[in-house]
Amino acid sequence: MMFSYIVLILLVLEDSGAMIRTVVSFLILCLHCEVISSYKRVCFFTNWSQYRPGIGNYTADKIDPFLCTHVIYAFGKVSGNTIQSYEENDITKSSKGQYEMANELKLINPELKVLLAIGGWNHGSGPFSTLVSNQLNMDAFAQNSLNYLRTHGFDGLDIDWEYPGSRGSPPEDKYRFTTLVKTLRSKYDNEELTSRRSRLLLTAAVSAGRTTVESAYEIDKISL
Ligand SMILES: *[C@@H]1O[C@H](CO)[C@@H](O)[C@H](O)[C@H]1NC(C)=O
Ligand SMILES: *[C@@H]1O[C@H](CO)[C@@H](O)[C@H](O)[C@H]1NC(C)=O
Repeated sequence: MMFSYIVLILLVLEDSGAMIRTVVSFLILCLHCEVISSYKRVCFFTNWSQYRPGIGNYTADKIDPFLCTHVIYAFGKVSGNTIQSYEENDITKSSKGQYEMANELKLINPELKVLLAIGGWNHGSGPFSTLVSNQLNMDAFAQNSLNYLRTHGFDGLDIDWEYPGSRGSPPEDKYRFTTLVKTLRSKYDNEELTSRRSRLLLTAAVSAGRTTVESAYEIDKISL
C-alpha cells in the first residue's frame, strides 16, 4: 500500500464571548490510501431533544442506526463516585427507557457503538473536581462506571468535563484529569483481559480554545 501524502489540517475557530465556544475540525486527506473505510462518524444524542415541540421531538428510537459509527448519549452525571441519569425516562422499569432504545439500535446495526457521555456544560466542574481529588474516589468510580455501562449495555464512556482547570476547577485538576483517564483506561482494559468482553471505549469532549487547553490537558499523556 502506498501513501502519497497525508495532509492534516487543524482548524481552530475561537471566539471569546461570555461563554467561549470553540470548534476544532480535523480534516485528514489521505490520498492513494486504502484504509479510508475505517472512518468514524460520531453523533451526539441529547437528553433535551425529546422536549422539542412538534416534529422537533426526537427520542432515541428515532436515530437512524446506520447514520453514524458511534452514538454518544448525552448526558449522565457524576454523583459522588457513581454515574447517575438525568432524565426520568433514561431508565424506566415499566416501559422502554431511552438508554435501552439507544442501545437497541445495535440489534439493527451490530457495528454501531453507543457511548454514554457524562458531564456537559451545565453539569460544570464541581463533581469532577471532587472525584479526582484522590485516588480512592477514582478507583471506586472506575469500578462503578464499568458496572453502570455494562448494566445498561453501553460500549464506552465519553468524559465531558468542561473543563479541568477552569470554571471552578483548581489548576492541579489538569494533572488529576490525566490520572482519571489512566485509571479508567486500566480498569476497563483489565476487564477485557479477565472477562474477554469487548474493550470498553473511552473518549472525551475537549476544548479547542488555546488558553483552556493549556490549563486543562496534558495532551501527550492522554491522547493515543
Ligand atoms: C415526544 O414524543 C413522545 C413519544 O414519542 C411523547 O411521549 C412526548 O410527550 C413528546 N414530547 C413533546 C414535547 O411533544
Ligand atoms: C440534560 O443534561 C444536562 C447536562 O448538561 C442537564 O443539565 C439537563 O438537566 C438534562 N436535561 C435537560 C432536559 O436538559
